[in-house]
Amino acid sequence: MDLMNTYKQYPYMMVKGEDNYLIDENGKKYLDFLSGIAVNPLGYGNKKIENAIIEQARNLIHASNYFYTETPLKLAKLLVENTCFDKVFFSNSGAEANEGAFKLARKYSELKYNINRNVIISFTNSFHGRTLATLTATGQDSFHKHFFPLPGGFKYCSFGDIKALETMLDDRVCAIIIEPIQGEGGINIAEKDFLLEMKKLADEKDILLIFDEVQTGIGRTGNFFAYQGIGIEPDIMTSAKALGGGLPLGAFMAKDIVAKSLVPGDHGSTFGGNPVACASGCAVIETILEPGFLDGMNEVAEYFKVELVKLADKYSVIKEFRGRGLMLGLELNIDGADFVKEAYEEGLIINCVNVRVLRFLPPLTIKKEEIDILIKFLDGELKKRSVA
Ligand SMILES: Cc1ncc(COP(=O)(O)O)c(C=O)c1O
Repeated sequence: MDLMNTYKQYPYMMVKGEDNYLIDENGKKYLDFLSGIAVNPLGYGNKKIENAIIEQARNLIHASNYFYTETPLKLAKLLVENTCFDKVFFSNSGAEANEGAFKLARKYSELKYNINRNVIISFTNSFHGRTLATLTATGQDSFHKHFFPLPGGFKYCSFGDIKALETMLDDRVCAIIIEPIQGEGGINIAEKDFLLEMKKLADEKDILLIFDEVQTGIGRTGNFFAYQGIGIEPDIMTSAKALGGGLPLGAFMAKDIVAKSLVPGDHGSTFGGNPVACASGCAVIETILEPGFLDGMNEVAEYFKVELVKLADKYSVIKEFRGRGLMLGLELNIDGADFVKEAYEEGLIINCVNVRVLRFLPPLTIKKEEIDILIKFLDGELKKRSVA
């Protein structure tokens, strides 16, 4: 293999996708409860996405950000019209979106206060990306080791601890970044009261609240973006993963009062806002925002939740069920790696994070009868492990 040894890859060569299934080189089908790590919101082979990509690729693949092109403008309008934000910057990934958000927060704070007001607070168990600044913001030591020195200006607060947060909010702090539900950290939900209190404290001190919705956004938790189900408006929000419908695309968004801090020359990206990726993104968002789409998804998600809760009640091997919408997890009392391996053998794709949390991130198009297949598998595996 000529690839660098950075991923623990399973020995399957995926060659095709169809509806909610991936297909390997031997023609074996895998029902997908991971969707390319929360990337393929409409499953595989969606005609609207395919046609949007083909049409845009035929017209223009790339022109550079020296010029306007139609699809990034259309996508930005869709985002602005359906969120509380006024301006959008397109990147290529979630980490890049968060990098941009950090730069925006620091520039806003420097212009309004002083250059020393530059500290960004993040939370234990968070995940914000793999670039140096975003891995520093990531509140898990295991991501930091080997990569010192890390950039300065980041501090960590215990996830959900409002008292600890309050003591940290001094006049050096310019922003707080939080995932409303921690994905890589193990499907940990930030309590609504904590978020409301955090917003109040941040507003009092003019500290910017950044929601990292790279994983929770684009319908995943039942709302277009998770913040819309909580009832607070962040000052800056980042998105990626499902935003491009499978093509690399990220974004950070902000209200005018914050966004206007950035001027030409402050930030940029050669590929950011690529017209083909944005055409795919438009197709995704138009579909998700069609009347009834999210209602239908939420009904299926509720069914999934009820079935997982039944398993959690039945087997003591399960410590806890957690999740919202189609971002669901089962924390086990044992390691989850074997479940993942067995699932692949059975033609099911699931995932395990933080050693013991089985994470389910299916396409938003998953069907009840497909959920039944997974539940039957999990029931069998849990039974085996409970008897042993
Ligand atoms: C919440 C969150 N932020 C940021 C990232 C980084 O995104 P990317 O891998 O596109 O850089 C991820 C990726 O898993 C994520 O889950």
